[in-house]
Amino acid sequence: MAGLAVNVDHVATLREARKAAYPDPVAAAAIVEMAGADGVVVHLREDRRHIKDRDLKILKETVKSKLILEMAPTPEMIGTALEIKPDLVTFVPEKRTEVTTEGGMNLSLNQESIADAIETLKCAHIPVSIFIDPDPEQIRMAHKISAALVEIHTGGFCDAETPQQQKRAFLNIVNAAKLAKKLGLGVNAGHGLCYHTIKAFTGIHDIDEYSIGHSIISRAVMVGLDRAVRDMAALVRAL
Ligand code: PXP
Repeated sequence: MAGLAVNVDHVATLREARKAAYPDPVAAAAIVEMAGADGVVVHLREDRRHIKDRDLKILKETVKSKLILEMAPTPEMIGTALEIKPDLVTFVPEKRTEVTTEGGMNLSLNQESIADAIETLKCAHIPVSIFIDPDPEQIRMAHKISAALVEIHTGGFCDAETPQQQKRAFLNIVNAAKLAKKLGLGVNAGHGLCYHTIKAFTGIHDIDEYSIGHSIISRAVMVGLDRAVRDMAALVRAL
């Protein structure tokens, strides 16, 4: 049975839209855990556009399942990971101007520095996963530099524009997961998965855990809106 790790970044995005104190991703993390999530994921970005250092510090104290920190493998972030000690670090590439993570890490570049970062975190007993495109070469490189896990990028499949593209992208993911498993890596997958695309993964047993954020937080807004309006309407009518 596969697991589900829920990314709560977009709760923080909503908070930051108003620079308010709510909604708090820490409170959201408690709710996702109570609802059965196997892990809570946050991406601490260099520009702190959504998740803040404060969130991460409190989440380390409150998350009971598994705290997964997505981050770029920069010296600043390595320092933060060593201080916080999340249950898992996922290395992701990061561009300041991107709206969301645009692709997997390219391990052909900076292989040595990424290997050093993995070693540093490993010495502190923090396992490292690498967010990676479903490319056999990249999977082999992740194994070579001693990553404990890979997270296979599912965005190409979710965003495919034609059924043919989608079929090819899906096969790439399945084959990448199979190879990673064969090499002894833990296998996660994520990015862009929604309530429709997740169904394609029925019967795929090489993927241990799915990391999903945007579609879940989006649905929460929709399924929660009716109740939220009723609560406010009751207050207004009682004035
Ligand atoms: N995995 C990684 C590495 C990501 O960067 C993201 C987006 O923050 C996700 C999974 C979740 O993607 P989504 O929000 O589209 O479900």
